[in-house]
Amino acid sequence: MTVTNLQHVGLEVPDIDRALSFYTDAGLERLERGNYGVARCAGRDQDQVVFVEGPRRRLHHVSFGTTEAGSAAIIARLEGDGHTVLDAPNETPEPGIWVRDPDGILVNVKVADAAPSRGGPDAIDNPPDWLVNVPGHYYRQGLRAAPPHDTPVQPCRLGHVLQFTTDIEAKIDFYTRLLGMKVSDRIGPGIAFMYIPGGSDHHVVALAQSDAPGLHHASFEMGNVDEIGLEAAHMIDKGHRHHWGFGRHVVGSNFFTYFRDPWDGLVEFFSDIDYIPADYDWQPRDWPLEGALASWAPKVPDDFITNFEAVN
Ligand SMILES: [Fe+2]
Repeated sequence: MTVTNLQHVGLEVPDIDRALSFYTDAGLERLERGNYGVARCAGRDQDQVVFVEGPRRRLHHVSFGTTEAGSAAIIARLEGDGHTVLDAPNETPEPGIWVRDPDGILVNVKVADAAPSRGGPDAIDNPPDWLVNVPGHYYRQGLRAAPPHDTPVQPCRLGHVLQFTTDIEAKIDFYTRLLGMKVSDRIGPGIAFMYIPGGSDHHVVALAQSDAPGLHHASFEMGNVDEIGLEAAHMIDKGHRHHWGFGRHVVGSNFFTYFRDPWDGLVEFFSDIDYIPADYDWQPRDWPLEGALASWAPKVPDDFITNFEAVN
């Protein structure tokens, strides 16, 4: 009995309208709900980023879905472990379990499925019309491939969040023993990746040791590498700051590109991440830091791992 999906991430920001403008520039859709802002992926009936007002940008909460039975089991494990199940915070009065993790960050677990996203559960029967020529095999014949620069693209779904933590072992223990995730890979003592054993992307939550908690990045799935490239081109056209990419991660294998948000947080756009099916005997590896961040990419920026929630 575990969490079964990632619902959304909550951020405190000094200017909700500015945050929503950044995410609408990225192709998400905005909603206002009471005194907080919401960004959703087009066609997906699920909050992806929730914004509450505060003095600075910082991680407010992370929300997961589970089943009725999962919810009961998680409450029992939390209370058995001495955690207090809290009332929903006034600023985000949403249903479900609310609890503080070892960093003091709020975690919400509610009874909810993951909403279908583009390329969702029926995708296996409806492969995308994206044909690639390779040496000796012209899968695309008589057709032009390059999409016009102004082709609109929109992220499909929030795939994962990477959090800074002051105690990575305590945080792994919280997410694995109490919420039911499993470690998929580590990069030395300071970075860990976790998946959901019922079948999920290689990582749904990742952690990096720091001297303060925080959100390193939220990561959104795109349809393919062309969509990552178009997304990046459009964000640059709109004046946003490209940070790192285009490249391919080693751990999780996803193609990636990263942008800075208005407060130096990072947003990743990815495609083709490794998937760990239900009940699969995945063997975690501990990767050396050297070379572990990218199979290939431009040089890693010096401040890629900087925790601006601690600096600012
Ligand atoms: Fe990522």
